[in-house]
Amino acid sequence: MSVIPEAGLRLPEPSPTAIAASLLLIDRLRGDIEASGGALDFERYMARVLYDTQYGYYAAGQVGFGVDGDFITAPERSTLFGRCLAQQIAELAGDGRVGRDVLEFGAGSGRLACDVLTALDEVGQAPERYLIVDPSAALRERQRETLAGLPEALRTRVSWVDEVPEIFSGTVLANEVIDALPVRRFVIRQGQPRALAVSWGGERFVEVERAADADLIAAVEGIGRRRGEALPEGFRSEYNASQAAWLAGLSRARGPLAALIFDYGWSTRELYHFERRKGTLMCHYRHLAHDDPYVYPGLQDITAHVDFSLLAEQARALGFDLAGYVTQAGFLLGAGGPRLFEQAYAQATDETERYRLSSEFRALVMPTEMGERFKLLALTRGVPDSGHWMGLSVSNRIERL
Ligand SMILES: C[S@@+](CC[C@H](N)C(=O)[O-])C[C@H]1O[C@@H](n2cnc3c(N)ncnc32)[C@H](O)[C@@H]1O
Repeated sequence: MSVIPEAGLRLPEPSPTAIAASLLLIDRLRGDIEASGGALDFERYMARVLYDTQYGYYAAGQVGFGVDGDFITAPERSTLFGRCLAQQIAELAGDGRVGRDVLEFGAGSGRLACDVLTALDEVGQAPERYLIVDPSAALRERQRETLAGLPEALRTRVSWVDEVPEIFSGTVLANEVIDALPVRRFVIRQGQPRALAVSWGGERFVEVERAADADLIAAVEGIGRRRGEALPEGFRSEYNASQAAWLAGLSRARGPLAALIFDYGWSTRELYHFERRKGTLMCHYRHLAHDDPYVYPGLQDITAHVDFSLLAEQARALGFDLAGYVTQAGFLLGAGGPRLFEQAYAQATDETERYRLSSEFRALVMPTEMGERFKLLALTRGVPDSGHWMGLSVSNRIERL
């Protein structure tokens, strides 16, 4: 039995303790496979390797967000991201369009919560409540540690909840949460989807094809409808079946709200373009990206790009309005990014700090870095004048969805 990459894929070796945990997770997965008659749908495999309560990548706290980890997210890259979000929240709550609560899904290390709370407090608009929903017990603990550094008056506004409360009005944040939800995988054979499942090959997990169920067939028909043409023969890709339940959870809130959903992804037409005929599933291990989800189970991150057209369609069906769809760069430029950058730059005390600030700002907005690949889908419910936000004032691309 092996957790080691196949020939050709060169990754750093995990510690012996990490390998031992991965082997225990493999045992659990083999049990799952046996109980499912020899093959496990890929979505269930992905749910287990990321969220198994003991050995899953997120649940076991293996996940590393920063330069020393496996990948880096916008809030980990620069406090400017949270500062711009705070400007947007202050605008929405300040003129009474939504209430003064904030709810963050998937708060990771707690960095974004810290930055948003600090920046809102600086402009005299600290939220009444800052709620966090995160299924990972290990990450909730990490968030508590990060937030312990805040002044007590801010810290006491933070609490952790299992779901969106019905009594909620304010702004919802989700940065790189949808891409971390388990996805289904499929391949087109003779015009129809076949489900990709996971079996045990004696030494490592292997991929097998199975008949698609009605949900997958309907999902792939939906992709064909949105892109204006059925997927071609041999096309392999993913479908995020979990995001519908996630959105339904968001719609529990009764009060007026604005939701800012940031992630990497495209419209259906772009995501399921011939160029991406092998799909967008990506794995991250210590800043190396590759496409083998069967390496180091529980020790590496697995993600897939988001279909923003699908997310928008599902949100509309739940009664949300689409306020906007912009690139991360567009949002940051509209939400005061250049001014905040200039202020920080002017206050910097030495060349090293000025250099750091410049390279962080570039990383967030440059098209070759995070600026274009990451998008914001902005939703509202019960909010008049839905699309007039500072962060949506630069190049709103809603018609591309
Ligand atoms: C890629 S990390 C992003 C962390 C953080 N938002 C950031 O930008 O640094 C994904 C986060 O989403 C959380 N997560 C996964 N599924 C979730 C769900 N259904 N609801 C809320 N959070 C979830 C994970 O535990 C983790 O904190």
